[in-house]
This record gives sequence, C-alpha cells and structure tokens, in this order.
Amino acid sequence: MEIVIVDDRASVHRLAADMVAEQLESKPASVLGLATGSTMEGLYAELLTRALDFSAVTTFNLDEYLGLEAAHPCSYHSYMHTHLFNHAEFGCIHLLDGATQEPRDHCLQYEADIARAGGIDLQLLGIGVDGHIAFNEPGSSLASRTRVKTLTPLTRQTNARHFPAEEAVPMHVLTMGIGTIMEARHCLLLALGKRKAQAVRDFVEGAVSARCPASILQMHPRCTVVVDNEAASKLELAPYYRFVWANRPQ
Ligand code: F6R
Repeated sequence: MEIVIVDDRASVHRLAADMVAEQLESKPASVLGLATGSTMEGLYAELLTRALDFSAVTTFNLDEYLGLEAAHPCSYHSYMHTHLFNHAEFGCIHLLDGATQEPRDHCLQYEADIARAGGIDLQLLGIGVDGHIAFNEPGSSLASRTRVKTLTPLTRQTNARHFPAEEAVPMHVLTMGIGTIMEARHCLLLALGKRKAQAVRDFVEGAVSARCPASILQMHPRCTVVVDNEAASKLELAPYYRFVWANRPQ
C-alpha cells in the first residue's frame, strides 16, 4: 500500500482529485467505483471545480440502504445526485436499487454489469470507524460479492446524523463485496480526522483479518491511502510513509 499523509482535509481532497483526473486523462472512458459519506463530499466538490470530462465515464456506487426508494432524501442515490451527478454529464451511472424486491437477483445483476463494463479502473473508498469498507462490516467474508448485509449498531448510530432519528437508519443494506472491491485495478481510500485514526492504524499496520475488513487492502496490488495528519496520528510508521512520499521516484 502507498500511504500518503497530508496536512488537512482540503489537501486530501485535492490530491485525490488529482488522481481521479490522471485516471481520466489516461483513459477517458474509465469505469469509476464511487463511495458516499462525509469523506467524499469534499472530493466531489473539488472534482466539480475542475474542467473534467465525465461524458465517457461509467460509474458503479458501492452501496445503498435496503428499503429506501431512490428519491428518499437519505438514500445514496439522492446523495450522489446532490453531490455529483446533477452537476456534470456522465456516460453511464449505476446505483444499487434500495427498493428492489429481488435483492439476490439484483446483486447478481450488478456484478454482471461490472464485469460487462470491463471491471472497475479506480475504486474510491472511505472507511468506517469499525474498519468497514463499503458496508462490509467486521466479520464479512474477505471474498464476498455484492449482497445484502446487516449494519452494526455502531454504524447505524454513526450514520444517524443523516437521518431524522437513529431508528430511521435502515438495518439492512446492499453492498459490493470485499472480493468485488479487490478486483478493482486501483483502490483509493481516503480517511479524515481523529475519529478514523484507530481504524487507519488497524487496517494499515494490523493483521489482515475479517475483524477489520479494510485490512484486506494490504493484499491489493495497487492501493493508495490518502489521510490527513489526524487520521494518521496512530500510525507507527508515519515518519517512514512521509519519507517515502517525499522521495518518491518521478
Ligand atoms: C459509503 C461507504 C462507507 C463510508 C464509510 C465512511 O458509500 O462506502 O464505507 O465510506 O462509512 O463514511 P464517512 O465518510 O461518512 O465517515
């Protein structure tokens, strides 16, 4: 893994936007895997300030709340339109349908659609305080595919800030699997703030284990992790990661 530690949130978003821009420059018809959540808001805002051409880009979002209609204000469908899709022209967007009556078939179809698109070139990821990526909570199979998952009480509590009340946060979600994410050609994980410091320490320097689902990224051939100083504050090897980045080959 390449660990990049920068000073603040804005620098994380700028650097991540540079990486997305480089991806689109080298392949205008890229397939992007997209994430939601607070961490991504600044990245999408930064991308929209740049004159990027998304018209040939195909996207696949990581996850969605099961039981929420697309138009629900707390759905990830609404989030993506508010923060990105309403403001730029995209080639083809794919979102999991929280209102599906056939979740199993829907998830299989989503996997087939990713394969048909040629796989994901660049997968954006955030991380939960419990180490989840997408909605693959601790204990998820490290080889899992897109499917229904049950959120932990901690994740429902953490995400309650986006809902009228904690009880309104759906218990079940549709999420790309860890095996699905691991097939992306490049994973780019962002983490911000002290709240994420332990999860960052666990997944970067801890054991590879389903206890911390993001730790599987240690096995990914190309994973870039961009964090601010606060999120990096528990990394034992932080001085070395800074040294490596400062002396990276051209
Ligand atoms: C959402 C997703 C989640 C979030 C994670 C962090 O699509 O994939 O794994 O990235 O829960 O959320 P924030 O950024 O709100 O802290």
